[in-house]
Amino acid sequence: MPQRFEVPKDQLPALLQAMPKAELHMHIEGSLEPELIFALAQRNGVALRYPSVEALRAAYAFTDLQSFLDIYYAGASVLLTEQDFDDMAWAYLLKAKADNVVHTEMFFDPQTHTERGVPFEVVIKGLSRACDRAQAELGVSASLIMCFLRHLSEDAALKTLAEALPYRQYFIGVGLDSSESGHPPEKFARVFAQCKALGLHLVAHAGEEGPPAYILAALDVLHVERIDHGVRCLEDLKLVERLAQQGTALTVCPLSNIKLCVFKTMPEHNLKTLLDHGIKVTINSDDPAYFGGYINQNFLATFAGLDLDASDAYTLARNSFEASFVPDTVKQVWIAQLDSAFAPFAS
Ligand code: ADE
Ligand code: ZN
Repeated sequence: MPQRFEVPKDQLPALLQAMPKAELHMHIEGSLEPELIFALAQRNGVALRYPSVEALRAAYAFTDLQSFLDIYYAGASVLLTEQDFDDMAWAYLLKAKADNVVHTEMFFDPQTHTERGVPFEVVIKGLSRACDRAQAELGVSASLIMCFLRHLSEDAALKTLAEALPYRQYFIGVGLDSSESGHPPEKFARVFAQCKALGLHLVAHAGEEGPPAYILAALDVLHVERIDHGVRCLEDLKLVERLAQQGTALTVCPLSNIKLCVFKTMPEHNLKTLLDHGIKVTINSDDPAYFGGYINQNFLATFAGLDLDASDAYTLARNSFEASFVPDTVKQVWIAQLDSAFAPFAS
């Protein structure tokens, strides 16, 4: 039985912001704010196509995933040194702390950097330095998931995995991101099999723009533990039933889906329907610097657009802990904190 809570409507936004939560789907390169892009470009002598912060921000009008990715990869071109990666991740982790994120599993795209000649070691050391500092200074638990770019070949992914192996202790799992259409999960079967054998956690973007068949392939061919996005599962009710029955989490990113025109408006988003089907849905920010908000803004916009209530808030936050890749004992500590935050509202 789902737990029920009642909160006066005007107090719900404060509870959404204050409740402890985990973030399971965010790309650290997607947290690069235009101001930081310009500061790093100046620090590193990198030329940008846009004359000002305002001009860059004005270009953030996307029509689909690819139109976003083109700008996102250009933005990442300012990252060159360990300090740059540390600064980027630290800026995000401060925002996460402010949003009462107690645990975050951050994606990074090494190939975006190694293809430009930035060594893998520079990327991973800079990011992990910020993660360590977040635990020590903010009490925020932060881990890294290495994503393979699906528009590149599987051989390129295998080469990246080989490069990453000396740094195995710095990341907890692997994912699959970038242009979805035309790049089905099957393309990465061998590299995911190797990652599984290494004991890495496995996730993949599927069913963001791609069809439900990509979600099935991510489950059955790649053997992923969570599906990133997955919103197109509703086109296959057998798949919906399976996801609900297995307890496979979907890391949904509502503001991203609106910005990339997966849904026209928030009231048309299918997150509530997914919840009603019993799917373990979580709310995440994806690329917060590009899509108009960090995790709490995603919660606020989704709750306003879909008229969700306090019981949904509890379910979504609890799902974020249950679907995280931490030991059960740690999950229980955070769920107990969540229970305390909601105890005054139990009905
Ligand atoms: N890389 C960064 N954001 C992404 C998204 N929403 N989908 C696929 N790849 C991405
Ligand atoms: Zn994503």
